[in-house]
Amino acid sequence: MKVFITRDIPEVAYKLLKKNSINFDYYKENRPIPKNILQKKVINSDALIPLLTEQIDSHLIDQMPNCKVIANYAVGYNNIDVEYAKSKKIFVTNTPDVLTESTADLTIALVLACARRLYEAERIVRLQKYKGWKPKMLLGVEMKGKVFGILGAGRVGSAVAARAYSFGSIIIYYDSQKNYDLESGFSAKKVTLNTLLRTSDFISIHLPLNKNTHHFLNKERLSLIKPTSILVNTARGEIIDESFLIKMLKKNKIRSAGFDVYENEPAISKELLKLNNVVLLPHIGSATEEARNGMAELAARNVINVLQGKEPITPVY
Ligand code: GLV
Ligand code: GLV
Repeated sequence: MKVFITRDIPEVAYKLLKKNSINFDYYKENRPIPKNILQKKVINSDALIPLLTEQIDSHLIDQMPNCKVIANYAVGYNNIDVEYAKSKKIFVTNTPDVLTESTADLTIALVLACARRLYEAERIVRLQKYKGWKPKMLLGVEMKGKVFGILGAGRVGSAVAARAYSFGSIIIYYDSQKNYDLESGFSAKKVTLNTLLRTSDFISIHLPLNKNTHHFLNKERLSLIKPTSILVNTARGEIIDESFLIKMLKKNKIRSAGFDVYENEPAISKELLKLNNVVLLPHIGSATEEARNGMAELAARNVINVLQGKEPITPVY
């Protein structure tokens, strides 16, 4: 049995595979694996562990006749043609739960970085422009008493709600399903999308990217947001019409926005780089030792289970 891993991931995965006598190989360069190399590597593989940077499309799936499981090293799996994998009886798994706290922490870090203008502030000090305390320098806004809107009340959305609630925010959420734990634990109220966009002071996106959520925040919906609001996205860039959001930021039709993900990632819009009312991070939501080790372990365990003829732990279908 042979597993191909598209990048060097934490050691815990390798240890588990070895312990279960499963051979593995991984792409050793520190950049996304080129498509032609990936195509060759998967031909004889019984399992694949890809990253979100690899497109696992029907063409590639056709190159892997022996593959029994694609164990994505991510919670989002928009990079995989799941329907096609399913038609070929290949399991697809992801890494939920293990990165929830990490992503929720980063989301609140982005919210506060926007609310308290941390990067504008940091640049002043770093560029040696700080000339002493001023009563009106860099005034931001507080989270207490503000309406915090959660778009997508799944695992990460709920963990963000818990944190925002502890900062004194009033939690509202939009989701197709009622989340009883959010309602009982954090007095959260389920609202319509329009209400969420119109009334939130903070809006945080926690939807999966799929064909229904591409440009979910389109022009019309973005235009409902209050000019005093802050929007953060730690989910997927394609969920927002980014060029329209940039127009709004330029005209101060929204206070500020925090990005961990981008529409054309890893390319970043030049326009975005010029703005002061944004905080720009390089997709580090799950970048903690705890989360990345957890992801490596879960991806490996999913592979081991399937190759041993058992059910995967976290299948996506
Ligand atoms: C990260 O973006 C993930 O989906 O795990
Ligand atoms: C991701 O794990 C989510 O459910 O939000």
